[in-house]
Amino acid sequence: MTNNITFNAFEVRQTAENQFIGTITEKKIGDLPHGELLIRVHYSSLNYKDALSASGNRGVTKNYPHTPGIDAAGVVEHSDDERFAAGDKVIVTGNDLGMNTSGGFGQYIRVPAEWAVKLPENLTLKESMIYGTAGFTAAAMFCRLSAITAPENGKIIVSGGTGGVGSMAVAILAKTGYDVSAISGKKQEYEFLQRIGAQEIIARDEFLAMDNKPLLKAQFAGGIDTAGGAILENMLKIINTFGCVATCGSVAGADLNLTVFPFILRGVSLIGMSSQNYPNPLRQPLWNKMATEWKPEHISELYTEISINQLDEHIKLILAGKLKGRTIVNLLQQ
Ligand SMILES: NC(=O)c1ccc[n+]([C@@H]2O[C@H](COP(=O)([O-])OP(=O)(O)OC[C@H]3O[C@@H](n4cnc5c(N)ncnc54)[C@H](OP(=O)(O)O)[C@@H]3O)[C@@H](O)[C@H]2O)c1
Repeated sequence: MTNNITFNAFEVRQTAENQFIGTITEKKIGDLPHGELLIRVHYSSLNYKDALSASGNRGVTKNYPHTPGIDAAGVVEHSDDERFAAGDKVIVTGNDLGMNTSGGFGQYIRVPAEWAVKLPENLTLKESMIYGTAGFTAAAMFCRLSAITAPENGKIIVSGGTGGVGSMAVAILAKTGYDVSAISGKKQEYEFLQRIGAQEIIARDEFLAMDNKPLLKAQFAGGIDTAGGAILENMLKIINTFGCVATCGSVAGADLNLTVFPFILRGVSLIGMSSQNYPNPLRQPLWNKMATEWKPEHISELYTEISINQLDEHIKLILAGKLKGRTIVNLLQQ
C-alpha cells in the first residue's frame, strides 16, 4: 500500500551523449532502498558533494539514475527500529545518503536507523539543514581544533570563508569566543563575513601570493581549511608552535607541495575530517552541541532557501564557487 505512494525527486540521469541531466521525477516509495526508517523529508541542503554527484562524478555516485542529497531533515513516517517511532523528527547526514543511496533531494528517503539522529530540542528541522553536512563538518573540525587550541592562544584562520563549510566555521568560532580571520575570493562579500563574525578578511589572491619558503612568519594559533592545495600549504606555514589545522576540502587542489618543517620544527598538527565516515554514535552529542553552545547568533543570515525546481541552477553556481553561505532545499513545496 505505502509502496505505491508517489513523491517528487530531483533525479539525475545519464544521457546517451554522456551528459548528466537533473529533472523533477515522480517516484514511488517502493522505488526506495530497504532500511528501517521511512522519512518524509522537510528540508535538505546543497553541498559541494551533491554538485559532484549531480554532474556524474563516479567517485561520489556510481550508478544513475540517482537522486542526490547527502543530508535530510524530516519526520519518521514508519520505523522498524525500536529507537525511533512514527512522528519523530530526525536528521540524517553522511554515511551513504545521496551518494549511492537515494538522497534528500527527494520528498522521501528510506535509510538504516543507525544513520539517523534525533533532532535536538533547541534546533528546528530547518535550522538543522542550515547547518547540514557543511555545518556538521565545520562543527566536527571545530571539535578537534578546540581540543588543541583555546581562544587565548591566538587567532584562527578559515579558508573558503563565504562557502558552506567556511561560513559555518567562522560563525561557530566567533560564537565560542575565538578571533577569526577569513580568507575569501569574494571582495563583494566582506560585509557578510564581518556580520557572521570574521574580525579580519584576507583576500585569497594575496594569501596565495605569499613567499614560497618552507616556513613563514607564524601568525595564527590554528586553521580550518576547506580548500586544500596551495591554500593549505600556506596555512600550515603560518601556524604558531603547537597549533593545528583541520582540513576537509579540495576546491583549490588535491595535491600538497610541502616540507615537513611545519610539523617537525613547529610541532604543528594536521587534522583530517571525513564527515561521511564520522562515527555514528558520536553524531548525536555533536548535534546537541550544535543546537546549544555552538549555535551561531546569526544562523538565520547564513542561508538561502530554494525548491527542488531551482536545484539545477544552484548546482552550477556551487561548482563555480559562487554560492554564499548555505543553500537549503525546501521539500515541503511542490
Ligand atoms: N571531508 C568532508 O567531510 C567534507 C565535508 C563537507 C565538504 N567537504 C569539502 O569541503 C569543500 C568546501 O565545501 P562547501 O560545501 O563549503 O563548498 P562551497 O560552499 O562551494 O564553498 C567553497 C568555497 O571555497 C572558496 N573557493 C572556491 N574556489 C576556490 C579555489 N579555487 N581556491 C580557493 N578557494 C576557493 C569559495 O569561498 P571564498 O570565495 O569565500 O574564498 C567557495 O565559496 C569541498 O571540497 C567539499 O567537497 C568535505
